[in-house]
Amino acid sequence: MQRIAVLTSGGDAPGMNAAIRAVVRTGLGKGWETYGVRQGYSGLITDSIIPLGPRDVGGIIQQGGTMLGSARSAEFRTEEGRKQALSNLAKHGIEALVVIGGNGSQTGANVLFEMGFPVVGISSTIDNDLYGAEITIGVDTALNIALEAIDRLKVTAASHKRAFLIEVMGRDCGYLALMSGIAGGAEAVVIPEVETTPEAVAAEITAAYERGKTHAIIVVAEGAAYDAEKLNAYFREHKAKLGFDLRMTTLGHVQRGGEPTAFDRILATRLGAAATECLQNGEYGVLVGLNKGQITTTPLATVAANKKLIDMKTFELAGILAK
Ligand code: F6P
Repeated sequence: MQRIAVLTSGGDAPGMNAAIRAVVRTGLGKGWETYGVRQGYSGLITDSIIPLGPRDVGGIIQQGGTMLGSARSAEFRTEEGRKQALSNLAKHGIEALVVIGGNGSQTGANVLFEMGFPVVGISSTIDNDLYGAEITIGVDTALNIALEAIDRLKVTAASHKRAFLIEVMGRDCGYLALMSGIAGGAEAVVIPEVETTPEAVAAEITAAYERGKTHAIIVVAEGAAYDAEKLNAYFREHKAKLGFDLRMTTLGHVQRGGEPTAFDRILATRLGAAATECLQNGEYGVLVGLNKGQITTTPLATVAANKKLIDMKTFELAGILAK
């Protein structure tokens, strides 16, 4: 191996920069030349590929986002786009690629691998919905940002005897909502994995009011069938039943923009180093991820074919603790 490249793809996640830095510096340590691809798979197609030396990745470990830029590339989903990507990699003499990203990005990595190109994936998404990794880069930071917001909203909610609907990100996965709900002491958590109705959520809030609570925090995952806006519309129509006055806050991309926590920087660094180890050992077509405290590898084909599930016991616990 002489020359490798690294890219970040999909939604940016705090800690991606730490992973880029680790890939570059451990790659250089193995005597390789290291390149970066700008704007994810789009940059492979448009030939936006730049050399990265040790100083190029200096001063980025503490920064959120990704110095390489990221994108969701529609062109890469076409056969033509992927062939162009491979041809550009060949043009630069790049022999292997590290893909830092979540579900869609690792599915793309698997396609490149199946086309015969050596690829290793690094698990990174704030959603924590990636099979093959118990916790991915960016989750801890996003969770802590959501938690800070919940804590603040609880203070103002209690002052005014209000209920707050707080919508958190996560695409189709309820992990961020569930965990921030537990850590923030929410009165109710609404996630895509568990069916509910606005009537049932309203009943939980009314019960909290009747138990003498000064506030009610309802954390709602953006992917829930009844998202915060739908619940808000229902609650407004049935205000009298609720007991509390009501407000709604959508956290959205605020969760993605933070400086990575120590946990995310260390996780990203370990995964970046593990990715170049895989390349050195000729272990291609795998995702590196953290499982039970250890860095493990899972075939990208397995990652692409499976869905990570929410732990239902943890969801039940959230309900018990809300009392
Ligand atoms: O996958 C990360 C994520 O932030 C999801 O939680 C969210 O649904 C989505 O990306 C938002 O995508 P975009 O940044 O393209 O609006």
